[in-house]
Amino acid sequence: MQNQVTVIDHPLIQHKLTLMRKAETSTTKFRNLLKEISLLLGYEVTRNLSLKYEEIKTPLAPMNAPVLAPDKKLVLVSIMRAGQGILDGMLELMPSARVGHIGLYRDPKTLIPIEYYFKVPHDVEQRDMIIVDPMLATGNSAVAAVDRLKSTNPLSMKFVCLLAAPEGLQHFCTVHPEVQVYTAAIDEYLDEHGYIIPGLGDAGDRLFGTK
Ligand code: URA
Repeated sequence: MQNQVTVIDHPLIQHKLTLMRKAETSTTKFRNLLKEISLLLGYEVTRNLSLKYEEIKTPLAPMNAPVLAPDKKLVLVSIMRAGQGILDGMLELMPSARVGHIGLYRDPKTLIPIEYYFKVPHDVEQRDMIIVDPMLATGNSAVAAVDRLKSTNPLSMKFVCLLAAPEGLQHFCTVHPEVQVYTAAIDEYLDEHGYIIPGLGDAGDRLFGTK
């Protein structure tokens, strides 16, 4: 695997993830936890944003202080619909980021992703892209999303999820070796229905209370 896969094993993330996994966790709590974890993931994913320095005055003294370089523009892309859960947290951290959406559904028999929606900002070519989807399961949706998004020519691409299955990670990293992956955990395996085990169930259903 050429990609750099970063498992963000911060104790706060791990604790919140365990709460999310529990079958008895309510939709409201699940949603809030995902938002909180996304803030923490976002903190790590943006660690290498570049800074410039500007002269400011504190109440006590002038100083040369760091601010984000203005040319560091971001676009967050949510893989619908569960990506919305990570997007909300990330946007709180990066309120000026632009947002794109890609809609893919898994054919329940073949597990192959089919695109039903695609919209990204017009200036994607000048932006670093962070793609979000909580579950990297078979990797088919993530691979298809990155295939499509690559055609828009962003400056760089990172992929952020909450849970990954080893099989999906291997698949993704083989097809898109240059895309860095961030995840809170790598679980044991994929079951025959494409669910991550032990996982947390269907992230979209748990997020939106549709089951
Ligand atoms: N998508 C989910 O929501 N959960 C899984 O376990 C796999 C894919």
